[in-house]
Amino acid sequence: MAASHFQYFLCLVLVTLTTLIVIPTTHAKLSPNYYNKVCPQALTIIRSAVKKAITRERRIGASLLRLHFHDCFVNGCDASVLLDDTPFFTGEKTAFPNNNSLRGFDVVDEIKAAVDKACKRYVVSCADILAIAARDSVAILGGQKYWYQVLLGRRDARNASWDAANNNLPPPFFNFSQLLGLFNAHGLNLKDLVVLSGAHTIGSTQCGVFRERIYNDTNIDPTFAATLRNICPKTGGDPILAPLDSTPNRFDNAYYTSLLFKEGLLHSDQELFKGNGSDSDKLVQLYRKNSYAFAADFGPSMIKMGNIKPLTGNNGEIRCNCRKINNL
Ligand code: HEM
Ligand SMILES: *[C@@H]1O[C@H](CO)[C@@H](O)[C@H](O)[C@H]1NC(C)=O
Ligand SMILES: *[C@@H]1O[C@H](CO)[C@@H](O)[C@H](O)[C@H]1NC(C)=O
Ligand SMILES: *[C@@H]1O[C@H](CO)[C@@H](O)[C@H](O)[C@H]1NC(C)=O
Ligand SMILES: *[C@@H]1O[C@H](CO)[C@@H](O)[C@H](O)[C@H]1NC(C)=O
Ligand SMILES: *[C@@H]1O[C@H](CO)[C@@H](O)[C@H](O)[C@H]1NC(C)=O
Repeated sequence: MAASHFQYFLCLVLVTLTTLIVIPTTHAKLSPNYYNKVCPQALTIIRSAVKKAITRERRIGASLLRLHFHDCFVNGCDASVLLDDTPFFTGEKTAFPNNNSLRGFDVVDEIKAAVDKACKRYVVSCADILAIAARDSVAILGGQKYWYQVLLGRRDARNASWDAANNNLPPPFFNFSQLLGLFNAHGLNLKDLVVLSGAHTIGSTQCGVFRERIYNDTNIDPTFAATLRNICPKTGGDPILAPLDSTPNRFDNAYYTSLLFKEGLLHSDQELFKGNGSDSDKLVQLYRKNSYAFAADFGPSMIKMGNIKPLTGNNGEIRCNCRKINNL
């Protein structure tokens, strides 16, 4: 048996014994110092693993941030997004918003291996790894002012749902009321919608996703649209990438400036700014003018999103492998 296989087997045995013997305490609420006693070095280890991955490829920070969002919006922040398909359920990875689009699963595996090794026990959940990696990516790409304290203590789901992923994640063609309606359904308000969409200050999107907007939308700067039509043909070239704002490797407030100039790359981005003085327009203008206001509001909205239906107490489990539920 290879060393890693042995580690995995050991984890399954320990996890099974723990559920049988230990009477787990119930932590109904998440807390910032959840790992302080069981593995005080966990957060430092995760941050260096995220840092290493971003040094290798800057875009991965964006991909990790998006994974946490796609986890939380589908039956809560429970790492269901990380599960591979099984004979018993089709997972979320091939749902329409995720298929050929979500990335970073290998980096999550790397982080999980590093943190389990450092802790010498299997105590950090995959759902918490996603929340921490998202925060660290933001702070590494944006600097200290974008750092916020993450709440921890989530456990991992033993199920995933392809249908729920299709029904709960916003497609890029949604209009403003559809976007707000979906965010409201997840306990998030207009401010959360505008500030969390600011995540599109990093990363890229594919021609197949923004084609409709650059060929058919009217609420778009004509020069901006023409430039993008040069790289994204009417047919074919679906995976060709374009940056979501002018500084895709910096977590900053440039995204909001692009909206003001009708240069939002996704239809859904531009829906947040129409230039008619709506409440959404006002928030876009605030965050464009004041990066400190954006920084001050981004963390609290991420924490709100991170609080969507976490599994705590005896619910769920701490997975040995983020891609699989624990089964001896
Ligand atoms: C408001 C509704 C939203 C819609 C309609 C939306 C849609 C999308 C789409 C279609 C892509 C590109 C996918 C591709 O081309 O493969 C994307 C990328 C991205 N999204 Fe969103 N998104 C939304 C909100 C959010 C939120 C709330 C976050 C995080 C808090 C987020 C983080 C990201 C990031 C970081 C990327 C770039 C990923 C990368 O480069 O790998 N998005 N989004
Ligand atoms: C997901 O992508 C793969 C590879 O491109 C494709 O074969 C498959 O049909 C897609 N699945 C769904 C559900 O769209
Ligand atoms: C898992 O999800 C499927 C589909 O959503 C559902 O039919 C099944 O009952 C769930 N299983 C468990 C154990 O929750
Ligand atoms: C947004 O889309 C919904 C569903 O297609 C539609 O009923 C509604 O009229 C649209 N709202 C606006 C302002 O276009
Ligand atoms: C633009 O809209 C027209 C008319 O609705 C449609 O036939 C065409 O496929 C659309 N083009 C793109 C690139 O989406
Ligand atoms: C701004 O325009 C949108 C649709 O284009 C509309 O739903 C909204 O009511 C308008 N807001 C104001 C303040 O005029």
